[in-house]
Amino acid sequence: MKTDIKNKGDIKILVDAFYFKVKTDPVIGYLFTEIACVNWEKHLPIMYDFWDNILFHTGNFDGNPMMKHRMLNQKSKLAEAHFKHWTKLWKKTVDDLFEGEKANEVKIRANNISKAMMNKVIG
Ligand code: HEM
Repeated sequence: MKTDIKNKGDIKILVDAFYFKVKTDPVIGYLFTEIACVNWEKHLPIMYDFWDNILFHTGNFDGNPMMKHRMLNQKSKLAEAHFKHWTKLWKKTVDDLFEGEKANEVKIRANNISKAMMNKVIG
């Protein structure tokens, strides 16, 4: 029986599962591991705060996603296919683990942010 995303502990489970897949993903994995050389110990807590703020309005995210993705795009061109794949993987990870109102919200928000980010970053 799946439950809804209830708190930051659940967000942590979701984000960890997502980036575990991302690391070895054939379409977008290299952008994280070879181009950005992400420091996961730093990146994952930032992402917990990002989603915690979106779902539970905690106000504890103060990063600059647009700038980070613009910088990534300068190092290695991002394409619509990357964003679409990111969103597909996110939705699948949510559906594998959770169901409910917050689970739906986190998919819709990711989809909207992904589209806005894609427009701003790749035009
Ligand atoms: C093509 C798809 C995407 C790729 C390849 C990608 C890759 C990355 C990389 C490499 C970083 C920087 C990590 C670091 O060096 O600290 C990053 C940061 C981040 N990404 Fe993405 N990303 C993608 C889409 C998205 C989407 C759709 C969202 C939101 C729904 C998102 C949210 C974030 C946030 C919040 C950060 C942290 C920004 C900060 O530290 O200020 N990303 N992403």
